[in-house]
Amino acid sequence: MNEILVSPSVLAADFANLQSEITMLNESSADFIHVDIMDGVFVPNISFGLPVVEAIHRHARKPLDVHLMIVNPDQYFQQFQKAGAETITVHLEACPHLHRSIQAIHELGCKAGVALNPHSSVQLLRNIIRDIDQVIVMSVNPGFGGQKFIEHTYEKVRELKAIITATGSRAKIEIDGGVNLETGHKLKEAGADILVAGSFVFGADDPKDIINKLREV
Ligand code: DX5
Ligand code: ZN
Repeated sequence: MNEILVSPSVLAADFANLQSEITMLNESSADFIHVDIMDGVFVPNISFGLPVVEAIHRHARKPLDVHLMIVNPDQYFQQFQKAGAETITVHLEACPHLHRSIQAIHELGCKAGVALNPHSSVQLLRNIIRDIDQVIVMSVNPGFGGQKFIEHTYEKVRELKAIITATGSRAKIEIDGGVNLETGHKLKEAGADILVAGSFVFGADDPKDIINKLREV
């Protein structure tokens, strides 16, 4: 079966001790560091911005997986690339010219992803799936950590996996929101490649052990 990669979300980290949190991730088996950018417009919450991404990048020895939950994301691609993003993921719902947005991300030398809100059908990606490196299937409504996993996600993942296989796309399936060992195991069975986990990792007594366990769900 598919190997699971883990992308811990620093949204749930202790921001007053960010350097030690990043050091912990560096020493862990995490594959990426998931960085959630919220603008208070696309989602009803504000997280942090470019200076914090730069600070994370200065210490991180894992690739930054930047998830933009913002309107007009194209305006900021270059700044996020300079701040250290390896992958930039935009929301389908925030991009009226999605193909152009993906091209712009690739032109900067970054990997490009598309995120889908829980109500958005995976079928909307059919005509772009061969052009992207990852899909983030949101398993909660974006904006906050610590929310309950939405059950219909498993079905979406199976449907998306079928589209990826049928089209020969290289896109990886990343799941974001409410991931733990139980949901993670079922997501792996449904075809997920990458699990994002915020509160489950940073809320644990031993985050590194949780990251190991998520990789082995
Ligand atoms: C939610 C963010 C997630 C969040 C996940 O809008 O995109 O990345 O950090 O948090 P948990 O794992 O706590 O659901
Ligand atoms: Zn996210």
